[in-house]
Amino acid sequence: MKKLTLGLSALALSVSAATAQANCDAGEVVAKLSHVTGGTTHPKVVAANNFAERVNKEMNGYMCVEVYPNSTLFGDSKELEALLLGDVQILAPSLSKFGSYTPKYGVFDLPFIFKDMDAAINFTNSKDGKKLLNEMEDVGFVGLGYWMSGMKYFSANKALLEPTDAAGLKFRVQSSDVAKAMIAAMGGTPQAMAFSEVYGGLQTGVVDGQENTWSNIYTKKFFEVQDSTTETSHQLLAYLFMTSKEFLDSMPADKRAQFLKIADEVTNEANLAVKAAENTNRENILKAGGKINTLDAAARKKWVDAMKPVWKQFEDQIGADLIDSAANS
Ligand code: LMR
Repeated sequence: MKKLTLGLSALALSVSAATAQANCDAGEVVAKLSHVTGGTTHPKVVAANNFAERVNKEMNGYMCVEVYPNSTLFGDSKELEALLLGDVQILAPSLSKFGSYTPKYGVFDLPFIFKDMDAAINFTNSKDGKKLLNEMEDVGFVGLGYWMSGMKYFSANKALLEPTDAAGLKFRVQSSDVAKAMIAAMGGTPQAMAFSEVYGGLQTGVVDGQENTWSNIYTKKFFEVQDSTTETSHQLLAYLFMTSKEFLDSMPADKRAQFLKIADEVTNEANLAVKAAENTNRENILKAGGKINTLDAAARKKWVDAMKPVWKQFEDQIGADLIDSAANS
Protein backbone atom coordinates (compact mmCIF):
# COMPACT_ATOMS: atom_id res chain seq x y z
CA MET A 1 0.00 0.00 0.00
CA LYS A 2 1.31 3.47 -0.89
CA LYS A 3 1.74 5.88 1.97
CA LEU A 4 -1.40 7.97 2.31
CA THR A 5 -0.96 11.69 1.93
CA LEU A 6 -3.76 13.45 3.72
CA GLY A 7 -4.74 16.92 2.56
CA LEU A 8 -6.28 19.59 4.77
CA SER A 9 -9.82 18.47 4.16
CA ALA A 10 -8.83 14.94 5.09
CA LEU A 11 -7.78 16.15 8.52
CA ALA A 12 -11.45 16.24 9.40
CA LEU A 13 -11.79 12.61 8.45
CA SER A 14 -11.14 9.86 10.92
CA VAL A 15 -8.39 7.31 10.39
CA SER A 16 -11.14 4.88 9.49
CA ALA A 17 -12.35 6.99 6.59
CA ALA A 18 -8.77 7.35 5.38
CA THR A 19 -8.41 3.58 5.24
CA ALA A 20 -11.14 3.42 2.66
CA GLN A 21 -8.98 5.54 0.38
CA ALA A 22 -5.99 3.21 0.49
CA ASN A 23 -4.50 2.93 -2.95
CA CYS A 24 -2.71 -0.23 -3.74
CA ASP A 25 0.69 -0.73 -5.32
CA ALA A 26 1.04 -2.48 -8.65
CA GLY A 27 1.62 -6.17 -8.08
CA GLU A 28 -0.30 -6.31 -4.79
CA VAL A 29 -3.36 -8.54 -4.55
CA VAL A 30 -6.28 -6.12 -4.15
CA ALA A 31 -9.00 -7.30 -1.77
CA LYS A 32 -12.13 -5.18 -1.92
CA LEU A 33 -14.08 -5.21 1.35
CA SER A 34 -17.62 -4.00 0.78
CA HIS A 35 -20.28 -3.34 3.41
CA VAL A 36 -23.45 -1.35 3.88
CA THR A 37 -23.01 0.54 7.15
CA GLY A 38 -21.68 4.04 7.69
CA GLY A 39 -20.56 6.68 10.16
CA THR A 40 -17.44 6.40 12.27
CA THR A 41 -18.84 4.87 15.48
CA HIS A 42 -20.47 1.81 13.95
CA PRO A 43 -18.91 -1.50 15.08
CA LYS A 44 -18.77 -2.90 11.53
CA VAL A 45 -17.14 0.27 10.18
CA VAL A 46 -14.51 0.07 12.93
CA ALA A 47 -13.88 -3.67 12.50
CA ALA A 48 -13.66 -3.47 8.69
CA ASN A 49 -11.21 -0.59 8.89
CA ASN A 50 -9.13 -2.33 11.56
CA PHE A 51 -8.90 -5.38 9.36
CA ALA A 52 -7.81 -3.29 6.37
CA GLU A 53 -5.23 -1.38 8.41
CA ARG A 54 -3.69 -4.56 9.76
CA VAL A 55 -3.52 -6.34 6.40
CA ASN A 56 -2.17 -3.23 4.71
CA LYS A 57 0.59 -2.97 7.28
CA GLU A 58 1.41 -6.59 7.99
CA MET A 59 0.92 -8.00 4.50
CA ASN A 60 2.27 -4.92 2.72
CA GLY A 61 3.68 -5.77 -0.69
CA TYR A 62 1.50 -8.88 -1.01
CA MET A 63 -2.05 -7.76 -0.29
CA CYS A 64 -3.91 -4.49 -0.04
CA VAL A 65 -7.47 -4.15 1.32
CA GLU A 66 -9.74 -1.38 0.06
CA VAL A 67 -12.84 -0.71 2.16
CA TYR A 68 -16.08 0.39 0.51
CA PRO A 69 -18.65 1.31 3.21
CA ASN A 70 -22.22 2.58 2.90
CA SER A 71 -23.27 0.33 -0.03
CA THR A 72 -20.92 2.37 -2.28
CA LEU A 73 -19.65 -0.71 -4.11
CA PHE A 74 -22.44 -3.23 -3.57
CA GLY A 75 -25.69 -3.07 -1.63
CA ASP A 76 -27.62 -5.89 0.02
CA SER A 77 -29.09 -7.39 -3.09
CA LYS A 78 -25.92 -7.87 -5.12
CA GLU A 79 -23.01 -8.36 -2.75
CA LEU A 80 -23.19 -12.13 -2.26
CA GLU A 81 -23.45 -12.74 -5.98
CA ALA A 82 -20.56 -10.32 -6.55
CA LEU A 83 -18.41 -12.31 -4.12
CA LEU A 84 -18.99 -15.49 -6.11
CA LEU A 85 -18.20 -13.63 -9.34
CA GLY A 86 -14.93 -12.32 -7.88
CA ASP A 87 -16.03 -8.67 -8.15
CA VAL A 88 -15.47 -8.24 -4.42
CA GLN A 89 -13.36 -10.38 -2.08
CA ILE A 90 -14.51 -9.67 1.49
CA LEU A 91 -17.95 -8.96 2.94
CA ALA A 92 -19.68 -8.76 6.32
CA PRO A 93 -23.42 -9.15 5.66
CA SER A 94 -25.97 -9.60 8.38
CA LEU A 95 -26.71 -13.26 9.17
CA SER A 96 -30.32 -12.46 8.23
CA LYS A 97 -29.39 -12.08 4.56
CA PHE A 98 -28.45 -15.68 3.72
CA GLY A 99 -31.95 -17.10 3.30
CA SER A 100 -31.38 -18.02 -0.36
CA TYR A 101 -28.34 -20.09 0.60
CA THR A 102 -29.25 -21.78 3.89
CA PRO A 103 -32.27 -21.93 6.23
CA LYS A 104 -29.98 -22.71 9.20
CA TYR A 105 -29.00 -19.07 9.80
CA GLY A 106 -32.64 -18.48 10.69
CA VAL A 107 -31.62 -19.62 14.18
CA PHE A 108 -29.88 -16.26 14.75
CA ASP A 109 -33.12 -14.44 13.87
CA LEU A 110 -35.47 -16.27 16.23
CA PRO A 111 -36.98 -13.62 18.50
CA PHE A 112 -35.64 -13.59 22.07
CA ILE A 113 -33.45 -16.67 21.51
CA PHE A 114 -30.40 -14.86 22.94
CA LYS A 115 -30.89 -13.01 26.20
CA ASP A 116 -27.99 -10.72 25.30
CA MET A 117 -24.92 -10.49 23.11
CA ASP A 118 -22.83 -12.55 25.53
CA ALA A 119 -25.21 -15.48 25.02
CA ALA A 120 -24.90 -15.01 21.26
CA ILE A 121 -21.09 -14.95 21.50
CA ASN A 122 -21.20 -18.15 23.61
CA PHE A 123 -23.25 -19.81 20.89
CA THR A 124 -20.95 -18.69 18.07
CA ASN A 125 -17.98 -20.08 20.04
CA SER A 126 -19.73 -23.43 20.61
CA LYS A 127 -19.28 -26.51 18.42
CA ASP A 128 -22.65 -25.84 16.71
CA GLY A 129 -21.86 -22.17 16.17
CA LYS A 130 -18.45 -22.92 14.66
CA LYS A 131 -19.95 -25.52 12.36
CA LEU A 132 -22.41 -22.93 11.03
CA LEU A 133 -19.52 -20.67 10.09
CA ASN A 134 -18.81 -22.89 7.11
CA GLU A 135 -22.36 -24.00 6.40
CA MET A 136 -22.17 -22.57 2.86
CA GLU A 137 -18.80 -23.97 1.80
CA ASP A 138 -20.39 -25.85 -1.07
CA VAL A 139 -21.71 -22.55 -2.43
CA GLY A 140 -18.19 -21.12 -2.28
CA PHE A 141 -18.56 -18.97 0.86
CA VAL A 142 -16.01 -19.12 3.68
CA GLY A 143 -16.89 -17.71 7.11
CA LEU A 144 -13.92 -15.96 8.71
CA GLY A 145 -15.73 -15.08 11.93
CA TYR A 146 -18.92 -13.71 13.44
CA TRP A 147 -18.98 -10.00 14.15
CA MET A 148 -21.61 -9.00 16.69
CA SER A 149 -23.47 -5.77 16.00
CA GLY A 150 -25.99 -5.52 18.81
CA MET A 151 -29.48 -6.42 19.95
CA LYS A 152 -32.30 -4.95 17.89
CA TYR A 153 -35.02 -2.50 18.87
CA PHE A 154 -38.27 -1.51 17.18
CA SER A 155 -38.93 2.03 16.08
CA ALA A 156 -42.10 3.39 14.49
CA ASN A 157 -43.94 6.58 13.78
CA LYS A 158 -45.84 6.00 17.03
CA ALA A 159 -44.71 4.71 20.42
CA LEU A 160 -44.63 0.91 20.51
CA LEU A 161 -45.16 0.00 24.14
CA GLU A 162 -46.90 -3.33 23.61
CA PRO A 163 -46.90 -5.65 20.60
CA THR A 164 -50.52 -4.70 19.88
CA ASP A 165 -49.30 -1.14 19.17
CA ALA A 166 -47.66 -2.58 16.06
CA ALA A 167 -50.91 -3.94 14.64
CA GLY A 168 -51.60 -2.67 11.15
CA LEU A 169 -48.18 -1.01 10.73
CA LYS A 170 -45.75 -1.81 7.94
CA PHE A 171 -42.21 -2.63 9.10
CA ARG A 172 -39.06 -2.76 7.03
CA VAL A 173 -37.23 -6.05 7.57
CA GLN A 174 -34.11 -7.63 6.16
CA SER A 175 -34.59 -10.45 3.66
CA SER A 176 -35.31 -13.02 6.37
CA ASP A 177 -38.35 -15.28 6.48
CA VAL A 178 -38.06 -15.46 10.27
CA ALA A 179 -38.17 -11.67 10.54
CA LYS A 180 -41.20 -11.59 8.25
CA ALA A 181 -43.00 -14.17 10.41
CA MET A 182 -42.12 -12.23 13.53
CA ILE A 183 -43.70 -9.03 12.20
CA ALA A 184 -46.79 -10.97 11.16
CA ALA A 185 -47.00 -12.42 14.71
CA MET A 186 -47.20 -8.81 15.99
CA GLY A 187 -50.08 -8.10 13.60
CA GLY A 188 -47.89 -5.94 11.36
CA THR A 189 -46.95 -6.22 7.69
CA PRO A 190 -43.32 -6.98 6.83
CA GLN A 191 -41.66 -5.31 3.90
CA ALA A 192 -38.18 -6.50 2.87
CA MET A 193 -36.03 -3.56 1.82
CA ALA A 194 -32.31 -2.95 1.24
CA PHE A 195 -30.56 -1.20 4.10
CA SER A 196 -29.63 1.77 1.91
CA GLU A 197 -33.32 2.46 1.28
CA VAL A 198 -34.57 2.40 4.88
CA TYR A 199 -34.17 6.10 5.74
CA GLY A 200 -36.05 7.14 2.59
CA GLY A 201 -38.69 4.47 3.19
CA LEU A 202 -39.34 5.78 6.70
CA GLN A 203 -39.27 9.41 5.62
CA THR A 204 -41.76 8.99 2.82
CA GLY A 205 -44.00 6.61 4.75
CA VAL A 206 -43.44 3.62 2.45
CA VAL A 207 -42.90 1.84 5.77
CA ASP A 208 -44.03 2.92 9.24
CA GLY A 209 -41.27 1.34 11.28
CA GLN A 210 -38.10 -0.70 11.36
CA GLU A 211 -35.97 -2.76 13.73
CA ASN A 212 -32.27 -2.25 14.24
CA THR A 213 -29.34 -1.72 16.61
CA TRP A 214 -28.49 1.59 18.29
CA SER A 215 -25.48 1.90 16.00
CA ASN A 216 -27.57 1.63 12.83
CA ILE A 217 -30.40 3.79 14.19
CA TYR A 218 -27.87 6.51 15.07
CA THR A 219 -25.45 6.39 12.13
CA LYS A 220 -28.27 6.19 9.58
CA LYS A 221 -30.36 8.78 11.46
CA PHE A 222 -33.49 6.61 11.54
CA PHE A 223 -34.41 8.27 14.85
CA GLU A 224 -34.94 11.54 12.97
CA VAL A 225 -37.84 10.10 10.99
CA GLN A 226 -39.46 8.00 13.74
CA ASP A 227 -41.52 8.95 16.77
CA SER A 228 -39.43 6.77 19.12
CA THR A 229 -37.57 3.50 19.55
CA THR A 230 -38.58 0.86 22.11
CA GLU A 231 -35.88 -1.07 23.94
CA THR A 232 -37.22 -4.52 23.02
CA SER A 233 -33.88 -6.36 22.48
CA HIS A 234 -36.00 -8.84 20.56
CA GLN A 235 -33.39 -10.08 18.11
CA LEU A 236 -29.68 -10.22 17.48
CA LEU A 237 -27.91 -8.44 14.64
CA ALA A 238 -24.60 -10.08 13.79
CA TYR A 239 -22.51 -10.42 10.66
CA LEU A 240 -20.70 -13.14 8.81
CA PHE A 241 -17.24 -11.75 8.12
CA MET A 242 -16.56 -13.73 5.00
CA THR A 243 -14.63 -14.32 1.84
CA SER A 244 -14.91 -16.72 -1.07
CA LYS A 245 -13.26 -20.12 -1.19
CA GLU A 246 -11.74 -19.14 -4.51
CA PHE A 247 -10.06 -16.05 -3.05
CA LEU A 248 -8.77 -17.87 0.02
CA ASP A 249 -7.45 -20.77 -2.06
CA SER A 250 -5.63 -18.36 -4.36
CA MET A 251 -3.22 -17.40 -1.52
CA PRO A 252 -0.03 -19.35 -0.83
CA ALA A 253 -0.28 -21.29 2.46
CA ASP A 254 1.83 -18.89 4.54
CA LYS A 255 -0.09 -15.82 3.35
CA ARG A 256 -3.41 -17.60 3.90
CA ALA A 257 -2.39 -18.42 7.47
CA GLN A 258 -1.41 -14.79 8.08
CA PHE A 259 -4.69 -13.54 6.57
CA LEU A 260 -6.72 -15.94 8.74
CA LYS A 261 -4.79 -15.00 11.87
CA ILE A 262 -5.46 -11.29 11.33
CA ALA A 263 -9.14 -12.07 10.63
CA ASP A 264 -9.37 -14.00 13.87
CA GLU A 265 -7.69 -11.33 15.98
CA VAL A 266 -9.76 -8.51 14.48
CA THR A 267 -12.93 -10.54 15.11
CA ASN A 268 -12.08 -11.07 18.78
CA GLU A 269 -11.22 -7.42 19.23
CA ALA A 270 -14.44 -6.31 17.49
CA ASN A 271 -16.60 -8.48 19.72
CA LEU A 272 -14.91 -7.14 22.84
CA ALA A 273 -15.61 -3.56 21.75
CA VAL A 274 -19.18 -3.93 20.48
CA LYS A 275 -21.10 -3.31 23.72
CA ALA A 276 -19.30 -0.01 24.31
CA ALA A 277 -20.05 1.08 20.73
CA GLU A 278 -23.73 0.26 21.18
CA ASN A 279 -23.89 2.20 24.46
CA THR A 280 -22.19 5.19 22.86
CA ASN A 281 -24.65 5.22 19.97
CA ARG A 282 -27.62 4.86 22.33
CA GLU A 283 -26.35 7.96 24.14
CA ASN A 284 -25.75 9.69 20.79
CA ILE A 285 -29.41 9.17 19.86
CA LEU A 286 -30.59 10.71 23.13
CA LYS A 287 -28.17 13.64 22.80
CA ALA A 288 -29.44 14.25 19.27
CA GLY A 289 -33.03 14.43 20.54
CA GLY A 290 -34.18 10.88 19.74
CA LYS A 291 -36.73 9.28 22.07
CA ILE A 292 -36.26 5.84 23.65
CA ASN A 293 -39.04 3.89 25.39
CA THR A 294 -37.95 1.36 28.01
CA LEU A 295 -39.93 -1.76 28.96
CA ASP A 296 -40.60 -3.17 32.42
CA ALA A 297 -40.64 -6.93 32.94
CA ALA A 298 -44.41 -7.25 32.46
CA ALA A 299 -44.42 -5.30 29.20
CA ARG A 300 -41.41 -7.22 27.93
CA LYS A 301 -43.19 -10.53 28.62
CA LYS A 302 -45.99 -9.44 26.28
CA TRP A 303 -43.47 -9.05 23.44
CA VAL A 304 -41.90 -12.43 24.22
CA ASP A 305 -45.31 -14.14 24.31
CA ALA A 306 -46.44 -12.56 21.05
CA MET A 307 -43.34 -13.75 19.19
CA LYS A 308 -42.70 -17.15 20.72
CA PRO A 309 -44.88 -19.07 18.18
CA VAL A 310 -42.35 -18.13 15.49
CA TRP A 311 -39.85 -20.67 16.87
CA LYS A 312 -42.21 -23.58 16.20
CA GLN A 313 -42.90 -22.30 12.70
CA PHE A 314 -39.23 -22.66 11.71
CA GLU A 315 -38.31 -25.71 13.76
CA ASP A 316 -38.28 -28.13 10.81
CA GLN A 317 -36.14 -25.87 8.63
CA ILE A 318 -33.63 -24.88 11.29
CA GLY A 319 -33.62 -28.06 13.37
CA ALA A 320 -34.87 -28.46 16.95
CA ASP A 321 -31.38 -29.40 18.23
CA LEU A 322 -29.80 -26.27 16.81
CA ILE A 323 -32.57 -24.12 18.30
CA ASP A 324 -32.02 -25.77 21.71
CA SER A 325 -28.30 -25.26 21.47
CA ALA A 326 -28.68 -21.54 20.71
CA ALA A 327 -31.40 -21.01 23.32
CA ASN A 328 -29.24 -22.60 26.04
CA SER A 329 -26.04 -20.69 25.26
C1 LMR B 1 -29.86 -4.07 8.06
O1 LMR B 1 -30.06 -4.36 6.86
O2 LMR B 1 -30.69 -3.54 8.77
C2 LMR B 1 -28.50 -4.40 8.65
O3 LMR B 1 -28.19 -5.70 8.34
C3 LMR B 1 -27.45 -3.48 8.14
C4 LMR B 1 -26.11 -3.84 8.71
O4 LMR B 1 -25.29 -4.37 7.98
O5 LMR B 1 -25.92 -3.57 9.89
